[in-house]
Amino acid sequence: MGTADSEVALVTGAGGAIGSEICRALRAAGIRVALADVDEAALERTAADLGPGDDLASFAADLADDRQTAGLPDRVREHFGGLDILVNNAGVREVVPLLDLTPGQWRRTLDIDLVAPFVLSRAAIPGMIAQGGGKIVNVASMAGLSAFRDRAAYSSAKAGLIMLTKVTAVECGDQGIRCNAVAPGVVETPMTSSFFGSADLTASIRANTPMRRWCGPAEIAEPVVFLCGPQARFVNGAVIPVDGGWTAGYYGAELSPRPKES
Ligand SMILES: NC(=O)c1ccc[n+]([C@@H]2O[C@H](COP(=O)([O-])OP(=O)(O)OC[C@H]3O[C@@H](n4cnc5c(N)ncnc54)[C@H](O)[C@@H]3O)[C@@H](O)[C@H]2O)c1
Repeated sequence: MGTADSEVALVTGAGGAIGSEICRALRAAGIRVALADVDEAALERTAADLGPGDDLASFAADLADDRQTAGLPDRVREHFGGLDILVNNAGVREVVPLLDLTPGQWRRTLDIDLVAPFVLSRAAIPGMIAQGGGKIVNVASMAGLSAFRDRAAYSSAKAGLIMLTKVTAVECGDQGIRCNAVAPGVVETPMTSSFFGSADLTASIRANTPMRRWCGPAEIAEPVVFLCGPQARFVNGAVIPVDGGWTAGYYGAELSPRPKES
């Protein structure tokens, strides 16, 4: 548990499945955590689940609103006295065929998944530089590395977030800022709950994943903590796929007589 001189992390989407596990894992690493989300009930659930402590604080904010987004780092600094780590984890996803996707859906997805991480980074970085450095971890997706059907806005936003990660690393690395990303594969969360009721879909996930399974939110949180920590002190501009090997290549079980499908 973090003490008064521990590092401070701001985690967006902290009310969600992956965000709450990131908060738990950062806290377990001794980091104080600012939980941010638009959904106040979800924020309260995460805070209750993590348990009491003055190393945690909740901040309601709608990341679709630039003014609220840009104001978050200062709210966190006012509360904790500093901000060392930003985890851009909040995200939304539309699963709509390209030709049915409206410009409004496109813009909303890009606003939350790409514009907000930019606005937050821009607001957080000057204070980080002033205090001697900082770390940013962006939660992208394997859909930002490979194209997926019916996810034009989501895949485009996550691909943009991967490039924002690299530009931030290149532009701010000489000022003590490290910026990296994780690109999760299929994680069992409410966002993907519809997958797990269908035998066809779970078989398809297994068929595409060399490790033959999907993962839980904690398996995303642990690489995020690594990227925030001293063991990653020379890691900058990296994108770590956390997808069981999905985007490493084509699993291609049907091309080989060897693997037996269960
Ligand atoms: N679940 C997966 O399989 C998966 C795979 C790859 C990447 N991801 C990414 O991981 C991240 C977390 O996803 P999750 O599965 O935990 O989803 P989730 O829906 O459980 O959590 C997302 C959180 O973001 C918050 N949020 C949404 N819009 C917001 C806004 N305007 N302002 C503030 N907060 C807002 C939601 O309230 C929610 O608490 C997302 O960026 C997602 O794209 C998830």
